Amino acid sequence: MRHILLFLLIAGIISACSNASITAHDPIEKKIDSLLPLMTLEEKIGQLSLYTSDWDVTGPTMRAGYKDDIKAGKVGAIFNAYTANYTKDLQKLAVEGSRLHIPLLFGYDVIHGHRTIFPIPLGLASSWDLEAIEKSARIAATEASAEGLHWAYGPMVDIARDPRWGRIAEGAGEDTYLGCAIARVMVKGYQGEKLGQLNSVMASVKHFAAYGAALAGRDYNTVDISERTLREIYLPPYEAAVDAGAATVMTSFNEIDGVPSSGNKVLLTDILRKEWGFTGFVVSDYTSIMELIPHGFAADTASAAAEALEAGLDMDMQAGFYQAALPKLVKQGVIQEGLIDESVRRILRKKFELGLFKDPYRYSDAAREKETVMKPEFLSAAREIARKSIVLLKNGGTTGKEKPLLPLSASLKRIALIGPLADAKREMIGSWSAAGDWKKSVTLLEGIKSKISSGTQVIYARGCNINDDSTKYFAEAIQAASQADVVVLAVGESASMTGEAASRSTLDLPGVQEKLVEEIYKTGKPVAVVLMNGRPLTINWIDQHVSSILETWFLGTEGGYAIADVLFGDYNPSGKLTVTFPQSLGQVPIFYNAKNTGRPRDPNNKYTSKYLDISNEPLYPFGYGLSYTSFIYGDVVVSKKESQDQNEMTIICRVTNQGNKAGEEVVQFYVRDLVGSVTRPVKELKGFQKIKLAPGEFKEVTFTLHPNDLSFYRGDMSFGPEAGKFQIFVGPNSRDVKQADFELTEKTKAHYDFLLAGERKKNL
Ligand code: NOJ
Repeated sequence: MRHILLFLLIAGIISACSNASITAHDPIEKKIDSLLPLMTLEEKIGQLSLYTSDWDVTGPTMRAGYKDDIKAGKVGAIFNAYTANYTKDLQKLAVEGSRLHIPLLFGYDVIHGHRTIFPIPLGLASSWDLEAIEKSARIAATEASAEGLHWAYGPMVDIARDPRWGRIAEGAGEDTYLGCAIARVMVKGYQGEKLGQLNSVMASVKHFAAYGAALAGRDYNTVDISERTLREIYLPPYEAAVDAGAATVMTSFNEIDGVPSSGNKVLLTDILRKEWGFTGFVVSDYTSIMELIPHGFAADTASAAAEALEAGLDMDMQAGFYQAALPKLVKQGVIQEGLIDESVRRILRKKFELGLFKDPYRYSDAAREKETVMKPEFLSAAREIARKSIVLLKNGGTTGKEKPLLPLSASLKRIALIGPLADAKREMIGSWSAAGDWKKSVTLLEGIKSKISSGTQVIYARGCNINDDSTKYFAEAIQAASQADVVVLAVGESASMTGEAASRSTLDLPGVQEKLVEEIYKTGKPVAVVLMNGRPLTINWIDQHVSSILETWFLGTEGGYAIADVLFGDYNPSGKLTVTFPQSLGQVPIFYNAKNTGRPRDPNNKYTSKYLDISNEPLYPFGYGLSYTSFIYGDVVVSKKESQDQNEMTIICRVTNQGNKAGEEVVQFYVRDLVGSVTRPVKELKGFQKIKLAPGEFKEVTFTLHPNDLSFYRGDMSFGPEAGKFQIFVGPNSRDVKQADFELTEKTKAHYDFLLAGERKKNL
């Protein structure tokens, strides 16, 4: 009888809610108010527990019996389960099998596409095309939500300055300004107009915080940075994602200043909720609550669970520590049940907003799944975005020394396509390629074959494996090269050498690949190297010898077509690096927005900041990338309008396409504050525009300077500008810039301080 009454009550809550607007705050709060008192402590803790299914395992542990736990109301969310049918089956266990019928959330690593795979995030960022990036996330959300998923574990917005770290592939690179811009559009892409829309999923901005600063680029390693660096370089992209409405935040594995993120109250409560006003829920990373023990931050399960919950961590991914420890901690009075209620509220609120109480199966729709997944229009978007992500690093003639090799003529008689990545389906989709089916990816060989006419022959030779010592295929490759007019050489890393737990102690091409390039070069044939990799590599020899180099990252399902489009000139490359390529691993960490030091490098003075054996310059700087046409930059003009209530500054630079092909250019705008109460970087990106110019066409590119662009955490940690001299730079990359100077007067500084006062401190 009691069970029937309870059922009627829940049914009442659910149906009442179905009539209410799920975006209206109050009705949802009322539903939660009615539901919470019905829940036992164990059921509440169930809502805070997230377990992996056995479909996919993305961490070191597995938990048997998760299905029984779902029926027992001990699980609030599941990850690593997808497809309409499977999520429906699991949802049934919760909705029909558990006492309170509370629906599950389904999360998954939808990182750069779901079924249709887009370039890895580092590649996507290289497009500098915010619209395209947002579209990739929108398509990913559309596919994922049709397969029963409600929650994507992205975007990863960790700023990364160390290419040894395998996860540099998963983020936007080294720059904070660009990282913020990409964080915003990714959240918009995942979440669409609002949660509850059938084709949107919740975003989970990760990994909070500063995971990209792991010492020595070793995954899961300690982070030790100043509060200023944390706030200025690492935190803004998470804040940008939160401002864009990210529904959830995932903690990071690392500690900062001795406190692991999953037990860090300053991060999870003071900064995230109090400073930034985040209202969603926080999820741990995979077993990161358990890892508070080996970190040496908690002695046992109970104290780890207590530290995490008290810090503000709502949902326990896979550790099972909340389930194991919280009931007793509440009974002992160590943890107040009210604290648990707060976390349950945050999670239930999202379930309501997603419309799951109204219809728990609404996302698990087999018919929608069938008509949505890998639609032709999604594939063509993937090809379009992949082409935009390619960076032309070298093309002979652009240095004025050689004739450009690219684009290739379609009337070549013989092309030798050589290299372990030339026909490597599995590698095309990169790491964290979610539910992508690598068998459906297009290789470079397939891409090239789709372009050429019957008069052109492609001779393919593997050359070597990605990562072993064998040179047994060299002879065949040399033979292929000797017969050809031109060689396309596809080398790089395997997908599994990048991503999580994939740090490397060298940035060289793995195995014998560089030797292979040297042998092919000796044939005297013109060589275009096509790189596929998830991090900057040290490729000095290649840069000094071969004619042309294309950085293609891992481009996703349509990668082979996209590279062929660029190789044959059907698309004029427009990507720019978002990470610095060092000359040598010894320069790492190397990033463009460094400080000048007290002894800036002078090659003629030993006692200056430099190396004995190489210059301080990178091989390719941040923002760098060439085109098949050439863009000329005019002088930079700073125009100031100062009046009582208006202190607007605009920066104008004329960019002209001087070549004979239409092309896109990423015009970049940097600032330097020459003297400050604390030292400032030699350059900081503060704006960019991707423009398209026909041959001979020019454009006056205009940037408006916002008070934030000149602001920083001053000596006393207040956020704002300081009066004094500034340099402004505009250019095609962070190195080759045109400069103008201006002075920020005390009056304008005061005005900017006034404008910024009352606003939350930020540097977006
Ligand atoms: C661990 C990774 O750090 C995180 O990025 C991912 O979302 C989770 N595993 C779930 O797979």
